[in-house]
Amino acid sequence: METADIEGQLDKLEEQVRRGDRYRDVQDDLIRGIGRRELLKRRNLREAVKATRSKLHQVGGAYLPAPPDYADWVARLEQLPTDRQSPELKKYCQEVMQVHASTRERLPILKYFYAETLEGIAPIQSVLDLACGLNPLALPWMPLADNAVYYACDIYAGMVSFISRFFAHLRQNGRVWGCDLSHGLPVEKVHLALLLKAIPCLEQLDKGLPMRLLEDIQAQYILVSFPVASLGGRSKGMRVNYETHFMRLVSSKSWHIERFEFAGEMAFLISK
Ligand SMILES: C[S@@+](CC[C@H](N)C(=O)[O-])C[C@H]1O[C@@H](n2cnc3c(N)ncnc32)[C@H](O)[C@@H]1O
Repeated sequence: METADIEGQLDKLEEQVRRGDRYRDVQDDLIRGIGRRELLKRRNLREAVKATRSKLHQVGGAYLPAPPDYADWVARLEQLPTDRQSPELKKYCQEVMQVHASTRERLPILKYFYAETLEGIAPIQSVLDLACGLNPLALPWMPLADNAVYYACDIYAGMVSFISRFFAHLRQNGRVWGCDLSHGLPVEKVHLALLLKAIPCLEQLDKGLPMRLLEDIQAQYILVSFPVASLGGRSKGMRVNYETHFMRLVSSKSWHIERFEFAGEMAFLISK
């Protein structure tokens, strides 16, 4: 498609991508950024819409098999204690985290994941959870300081507004917002940034984005992780491949890096 036609087609593309439940509440920068590239590559609007939806599936939709019922989650949350260590609240968090594939895979190791990776730097004063998914629901398992501040962002408006309600219920300081990391990086200065299982997704949008994040995010520490099995459950040498990839990414840096291994996930704590 000609460059001159693209801006005219972009509104139509966005409107068509948002039809139905799957991508209705995705950050507009992301839909339009992918859409612009696809309009340039494809023969017509229909093909560009299809390719945009397919890319959105790869970076987000694949992890959420069905659009969550946030109204039901909020109604149930409001019946629960506000104490984050209460067994009822923790059970609820685990149920909600089941809905996003990334947090579901982490549930069996949740008890150890944050305790082990953050042991040397706890208590954490402030967190920036990048491409957070439903991971802020793991807050009761994180070694946070009493007055810690928690920032989190992801591409789904419904999800970030639900997480804001969750923070309000817990009286957790912080802010949760819709973002497209391929269009701009958060500027918050924090003790710890989380970049959990997000690098492979973000690379599908922009190969250079993970490095920009690692270099430019204003954090003393960054906890990076990778899945070691695909969404279908096969491992296909992923542990070795991702470790090699990550080590290559940081090879020119003099950062201190500590490595952790868990069933299903491999993590690296970067000290800048
Ligand atoms: C593999 S999941 C990881 C979720 C979470 N960090 C965790 O480990 O539980 C990848 C996440 O990246 C988000 N994402 C994809 N593209 C993004 C972008 N351009 N900006 C911000 N978040 C993005 C998706 O919506 C999804 O929640």
